[in-house]
Amino acid sequence: MESKTYLLNNGMAIPQIGFGTYRAARADCEHAVEAALRSGYRLIDTANVYMNERAVGRGIANSGIERGEIVLASKIWPTEYKSKKATEAIDRTLSRLGADHLDLLLLHQPFGRVEEAWKAAEDAVRAGKVRMLGVSNFDENDLEKLLGYCTIKPVLDQVECHPYCQRRTLAQFLRKNGILLESWYPLGNGDTELLGEKTVMNLSEKYKKTPVQIVLCWHVEEGYLPIPGTKNPKHAAENFNIFDFSFTNEEMSSLRSLDRNERLFRMKRGIQKYVVFLQRMNYDRQK
Ligand SMILES: NC(=O)c1ccc[n+]([C@@H]2O[C@H](COP(=O)([O-])OP(=O)(O)OC[C@H]3O[C@@H](n4cnc5c(N)ncnc54)[C@H](OP(=O)(O)O)[C@@H]3O)[C@@H](O)[C@H]2O)c1
Repeated sequence: MESKTYLLNNGMAIPQIGFGTYRAARADCEHAVEAALRSGYRLIDTANVYMNERAVGRGIANSGIERGEIVLASKIWPTEYKSKKATEAIDRTLSRLGADHLDLLLLHQPFGRVEEAWKAAEDAVRAGKVRMLGVSNFDENDLEKLLGYCTIKPVLDQVECHPYCQRRTLAQFLRKNGILLESWYPLGNGDTELLGEKTVMNLSEKYKKTPVQIVLCWHVEEGYLPIPGTKNPKHAAENFNIFDFSFTNEEMSSLRSLDRNERLFRMKRGIQKYVVFLQRMNYDRQK
């Protein structure tokens, strides 16, 4: 089975599902990425702060899949946003991944010297080191500011999104601006209450799909790009297998009614803004 693609605001295509590697860092990321690529994934999401870029690079190399077929995405952390530092951070990410270019570079958080980092990221595009730019955890205000000065528009915004937290207002803003919503925590971080919801279970029975597949299909039917993470290659294959069914309008309405506007990652923005800058690591100290 192949993933369908979304058309981005720069005319390029991106798969409708990706493989998140945050969790894989804790297990065996290299094998997880290799298995995911063999299952059909062609979008791999990592970040310098996940401390697994070298393992991701090895997983891609071991998979035998042509590099040109893969959308490789990474992110830089706000402690690296100062312009010269941001340029160095991008170069170091490329070196750890063993890649001559990144397909997608995201600013991981909307805090600190965002404008300097964005300019450095645009320079990296002009230098041929990066193909596309995006952001993560940006709200409408953060994006309004960025859209005011950017010369290269972000293609997507990676934010927490799942049926309990459907981000309706942000999604509307993104749609209006031609920016794709990419969902992190697409399974609510494996939330058992969400996966056990009656609506989800009924659809699981009807379509002979697992509750996880029902939730992932909901993302795609909304036009969102989920990046589920798993350390289990069987789960990775299951999560990819969602392109052979679709919901009726009534079924989409019942899934939409699960929205509680509730974040499962519960850190207030003010606190997060402070905590983000405490996270100072030497990203080169990884295997
Ligand atoms: N930009 C940001 O700030 C940000 C923040 C958080 C995450 N992310 C990105 O988003 C990705 C996804 O987030 P996440 O991994 O934290 O949450 P998630 O994908 O919503 O959920 C992962 C959890 O679901 C379980 N799971 C996955 N597939 C399953 C299946 N088929 N059956 C049963 N359980 C399954 C996993 O357990 P098993 O390992 O046992 O399968 C794991 O406990 C991350 O890897 C990362 O790339 C980005």
